[in-house]
Amino acid sequence: MRMRKKKNSESRLLACEKYLLNTDEMLTDPLTVMGEGYSKVFLEIGAGKGGFACAMAERHSDAAYFAMERVTDCVVLCAEKANSGEYGELNNLRFLIDTADNLMHIFPRGSVDAIFLNFSDPWSKKGYAKRRLTHRRYLAMYMNLLRDGGTLTFKTDNVGLFDFSLEEIEAMGLTLTAMTRDLHASEWNEGNIMTEYERSFSEQGMKINMLKITKPVGFNPDIAPEFLTKGRYMGE
Ligand SMILES: C[S@@+](CC[C@H](N)C(=O)[O-])C[C@H]1O[C@@H](n2cnc3c(N)ncnc32)[C@H](O)[C@@H]1O
Repeated sequence: MRMRKKKNSESRLLACEKYLLNTDEMLTDPLTVMGEGYSKVFLEIGAGKGGFACAMAERHSDAAYFAMERVTDCVVLCAEKANSGEYGELNNLRFLIDTADNLMHIFPRGSVDAIFLNFSDPWSKKGYAKRRLTHRRYLAMYMNLLRDGGTLTFKTDNVGLFDFSLEEIEAMGLTLTAMTRDLHASEWNEGNIMTEYERSFSEQGMKINMLKITKPVGFNPDIAPEFLTKGRYMGE
């Protein structure tokens, strides 16, 4: 998501501080970060402008909802949206300014119930496939973060990225629990929360692809060493 540098981003973030989470240290128990009484942990990667995160946190008030976004200026918009009052109090929502590459340094293994990837960057140029958030090295990491029976849901307008993701899922021996190439016309659309990109693409008449996988019991594939190295990997 290309954005112009936001003016006063630091002071704007400070004003919405209660919606931000420091990622310098591993969370001991993500379920209790926002207080007692939550029964599941949701993680969104690449929150963009934050509309999906706010609506999901509002709907799933029993979930501790973590929305990760690596671009600080996007998080300014996310946190301001959460702080706007439009979605109520949202005590169960926190934004993390960080990259997915650092997830193993933030969330304990087996601590996440559901992961959401929405309209992830396609990295279409030759030689960049490794950076796609549905590349097998990321899928292996997600599987380790998820508890047994936890789910990963992925939506995209990009057919090339969707096909690539299906191949990666198959190569890992994972099976789909849901899949459609036209989400809005499908049985899976009920209760669907549209993201900012999703609204824009569907207004242009583009179809939305969606897939969901469930972590098989005890499926914890090896994690790529670059995601485990101490000192925190910050991209290539
Ligand atoms: C195309 S935008 C989609 C935004 C939003 N999910 C939506 O559907 O409207 C992708 C977002 O993912 C973020 N992103 C890309 N790679 C990331 C990574 N490795 N870790 C965290 N965020 C990432 C980008 O900064 C961008 O805001």
